[in-house]
Amino acid sequence: MIGYKELNTIKEYIEAKTNFTPKAGLVLGSGLGGFSKRIDKIAEIPYSEIPGFPVSTVEGHNGSFIFGYIGKNRLPIVAMSGRVHYYEGYHMSEVVAPVRTMGLLGAKTIILTNAAGGINMSFNPGDLMIINDVITTFIPNPLIGPNIEELGTRFPDMSKIFSDRLIEVLKRVSKESGVNLCEGVYAQCTGPSFETPAEINMLKTLGADAVGMSTACEAIAARHMGIEVCGVSCISNMAAGILDQPLTHAEVQETADKVSSHFESIILGLCQNL
Ligand code: HPA
Repeated sequence: MIGYKELNTIKEYIEAKTNFTPKAGLVLGSGLGGFSKRIDKIAEIPYSEIPGFPVSTVEGHNGSFIFGYIGKNRLPIVAMSGRVHYYEGYHMSEVVAPVRTMGLLGAKTIILTNAAGGINMSFNPGDLMIINDVITTFIPNPLIGPNIEELGTRFPDMSKIFSDRLIEVLKRVSKESGVNLCEGVYAQCTGPSFETPAEINMLKTLGADAVGMSTACEAIAARHMGIEVCGVSCISNMAAGILDQPLTHAEVQETADKVSSHFESIILGLCQNL
């Protein structure tokens, strides 16, 4: 469990090293790995260096926080290069600790990105989807446990997790840059196995447009803190059973890499309009 005391130790460690107050936080999902090169970096702190901080066990590297300025407006930003997932075996309070840390460091806005399987039949692999709501019924709620009063209330409202203002900005940026964005509901499952076709059928019936293994819990934790949240999924594959073919992580990675330049320009445009 990571509680308020541990979060403060983490925050103090980072502040002692960086002396930097980010206005926004950005989680770099699949397809956005290269985005960190666009940041005028002033510091990078590997997660493995931070006391009590969860370390990613799946990606090629363990992950790090990148601090610096982004875009023409030189927005002070902290980016997470690598995230931890519930399926790695971490407690939910550990999974959302990085997002909470960004909030405690000063981020008023958090941009979440990921790769997701497309459920909506009008989507195609390579599409970018604005997340307008989430289904978290199939994962433990990240706020279970003693409420951290310093972060937010016991029963926070979740009727508008994703900021209308930021969704409008994303749509404007998409028009200006000629990158098409679709929009929909993201359902989070635990993974690590991909869903079964029967599960995808169920999620479709429940109103999900895309499915993934991250992000929704992060969005809830950020919203609990009153942070303005926005999210974009790269539809890296059609979900199980929609096409008659097995799913692989390699396919997810390949599609995400293919659309990375579009993904980066949308997220850069958003940062320039915060
Ligand atoms: N299911 C769950 N998570 C995913 C998928 C999927 O099809 N694609 C990318 N992340």
